[in-house]
Amino acid sequence: MTRDREGNIRAFHNVCSHRMNKLIYDECGSTRKFFCKFHGWAYDLDGKLSGVPEEECFPGLNRAGLGLSPINVDVWQGFIFVNVDPKPRMSLQEFLRPMYAGLEGYPFDEMTSCYSWTAVVNCNWKLALDAFQESYHVAYVHGHSIADSLNKAASGGSRPIDGLCGEFHRRLSMAGNPQSVYGNPQALTAAPSAAAPASGRAIAAAALHFGRGGTNFKVTPQTLPPGLNWRRHPNWMFDINVVFPDFYLSLRPNYYQAYNFRPLAHNRFLLDARVYYPEMTTAGGRFYQEYMKVALRDVLLEDLSTLEHNQAACETRAKSHMVLQDYEIMVRHQFKVIERLIREGQAAEALS
Ligand code: FES
Ligand SMILES: [Fe+2]
Repeated sequence: MTRDREGNIRAFHNVCSHRMNKLIYDECGSTRKFFCKFHGWAYDLDGKLSGVPEEECFPGLNRAGLGLSPINVDVWQGFIFVNVDPKPRMSLQEFLRPMYAGLEGYPFDEMTSCYSWTAVVNCNWKLALDAFQESYHVAYVHGHSIADSLNKAASGGSRPIDGLCGEFHRRLSMAGNPQSVYGNPQALTAAPSAAAPASGRAIAAAALHFGRGGTNFKVTPQTLPPGLNWRRHPNWMFDINVVFPDFYLSLRPNYYQAYNFRPLAHNRFLLDARVYYPEMTTAGGRFYQEYMKVALRDVLLEDLSTLEHNQAACETRAKSHMVLQDYEIMVRHQFKVIERLIREGQAAEALS
């Protein structure tokens, strides 16, 4: 993916036109041109072939036809999406806006302080994503960490406020317990309540207390775009947005999580987890952020802890199907959409 001096964003396959070496080995960087490390062919940022050592030895070489192979690319709210289909059936905007137009204007550009983790996990990417799109597991998997941060139903479970299932994507809205550091969406901007956090943990209480006013960022649940907290729940904590197929975007008033579950094989995926905060301007704000970083890392490890067991158990084929309850509606939706798209793909293939 390249951005040129004018700000144009383009994407190309990372393959040299000469003998198909991988053109760039680095993950990212800054350059005026790309040089292949094999024989030195050079390409401009727009993909044009601009240099061929000993060109006279390639009789009739057609430079114009030997640029990098482009990939369709578009941008939504600062996120760059590629579509490897050479003839996309719909534009990125047509794909996203029916479900996510109401999120436009979320202050992604003000949340520039990022921390991230990656992990390769021996599990199918769909099983993994499922573990992040329901709250039925919270009381068990997160029983000792964040179980107190979610709003409790009379049953004691943590049920979502609402869910939306679209043609491709899905959304789930969750309420929190403002007495907990993790569950308080206004931790940085509003005074914590006088009551001690329900968890009773001193460090959590300190993070909540000293984090207040730790950033110049002034967004509150009331000033967010209307698509967030669409049920206007007073204790709203965050919305989970799963952009088909694997982009998990969890939005809060004071930070957001952007995770990708990238398939590597049928039983292996790469988790690419990024969390974005506004820049902190006080030591208390930094303390809050460091506390949250460690808390979120532990929660993530808890979420990963069942996955390889889940995969191994599925592979025994002892069970033919799963049993899902109402609050696992996102899990249902994921399988419904994927099965529909596979059926459509198979039908189109049969026709051709
Ligand atoms: S493969 Fe790139 S220059 Fe030869
Ligand atoms: Fe979880």
